[in-house]
Amino acid sequence: MAYQVRINGELRELDVPEDMPLLWAIRNEIGLLGTKFGCGMGLCGACTVHVDGVAQRSCSLPVGSIGTAEVTTIEGLGDTEIGRALQQVWVEEDVMQCGYCQAGQLMNASALLKRNPAPNARQIDAAMSGNICRCACYTRIRDAIAQVAD
Ligand code: FES
Repeated sequence: MAYQVRINGELRELDVPEDMPLLWAIRNEIGLLGTKFGCGMGLCGACTVHVDGVAQRSCSLPVGSIGTAEVTTIEGLGDTEIGRALQQVWVEEDVMQCGYCQAGQLMNASALLKRNPAPNARQIDAAMSGNICRCACYTRIRDAIAQVAD
């Protein structure tokens, strides 16, 4: 089916089955490769994007369910003040190790700070607990988010 999906502020044409996971549309049809495949079952958070500002797992979200919602991927995160600040601290604090999960971590972190600009350590851990990092960079992730928090 033909869809028009707004991604990172741009209207993109998609001709895909309605049940295609948004992740595959973003990566394979549109060519934005920052959003990663981890588990494909909504369990790891590597594929996190924003749909109307809310963190969602794109591996579990059918393209047909997006409608007129605004999708933001890691490639568009720097267009927001919170996203820019997080990316800068991520680099300054050397948060990443292998880096594979980090797009999802950043997307979830920015959604957290949008809904709660001043989370404490426990709230950060709770909000980020579904984003798995095989290199276990959790302490650096928490500290970086805390630096951007008000
Ligand atoms: Fe989507 Fe793991 S790839 S949650």
